[in-house]
Amino acid sequence: MFNYEEMALKYKKMGIEVPTKEMIKTKEQIEGIREAGRINSLVLDEVAKNIRIGMSTEDINTIVHNKTIELGGIPAPLNYEGFPKSVCTSVNDAVCHGIPDKHQILKDGDIINVDCTTIYNGYYGDASRMFMLGNVSKQAQDLVRVTKESLDKCLEEIKPYSRLRDIGYIIEKYCKMHGFSVVHEIGGHGVGVDFHEDPFIYHFGKKGTGMVLFPGMTFTIEPMVNMGRRFVFIDASNDWTIYTEDGSLSAQWEYTLVMTENGLEILSY
Ligand code: MF3
Ligand code: CO
Ligand code: CO
Repeated sequence: MFNYEEMALKYKKMGIEVPTKEMIKTKEQIEGIREAGRINSLVLDEVAKNIRIGMSTEDINTIVHNKTIELGGIPAPLNYEGFPKSVCTSVNDAVCHGIPDKHQILKDGDIINVDCTTIYNGYYGDASRMFMLGNVSKQAQDLVRVTKESLDKCLEEIKPYSRLRDIGYIIEKYCKMHGFSVVHEIGGHGVGVDFHEDPFIYHFGKKGTGMVLFPGMTFTIEPMVNMGRRFVFIDASNDWTIYTEDGSLSAQWEYTLVMTENGLEILSY
């Protein structure tokens, strides 16, 4: 069985950064996060079932808001640091933090990220998926697929006692190999007891560096991958939405994960 004090000492002696005690969740906390994650996945399933060309991103907000409440949860984005809606909807060159809008209509060929976070019984689950509407270009389909594959590759390769920057190394290497670029400015995060906890999860970096990953850590991996260059800017009109600087398409997938003694387990997808 994993013993925090013993392992923290062992890795500190090797000069390796160690997670704080608060980053290691108790069994009870993990069960709570698992339940919040399960509800959150059900909300995304509801979006998957109903998303259509001709619908507005505000309609997606309504679906997410109502389904979350129906399941006994609270949509975490609503009023979070002033965010005005219950979900993030990021279309085409929007990288993340898109704000649902009744005037933004989904059209044939669009790609959209829907990012849901649910608070349930005080715990958080956070996940996002891509949806492709109608006839999406082959290149856009590849972008969406490669982004998800880069995330799934982490699940295969990252184990307890892997290093934090191994995650980003895997993601960026895989995406670059396919001719895409990875956004650096926004990352994954610890999650579960709060919406955004430490550590920051980089989607790029040098393998074998950074904090050691211990069993009991709960965090997201949520790569944002661009068809063109990696650079982004923030929408000055709302101070939230991030876009690709070059106007190229961007994709993102996100899971809430728990590090078990055997590897990463998905708590929300
Ligand atoms: N769900 C996003 C994440 O993955 C955060 C959105 S913050 C919000 O971390 F306020 F825009 F909702
Ligand atoms: Co997140
Ligand atoms: Co999210």
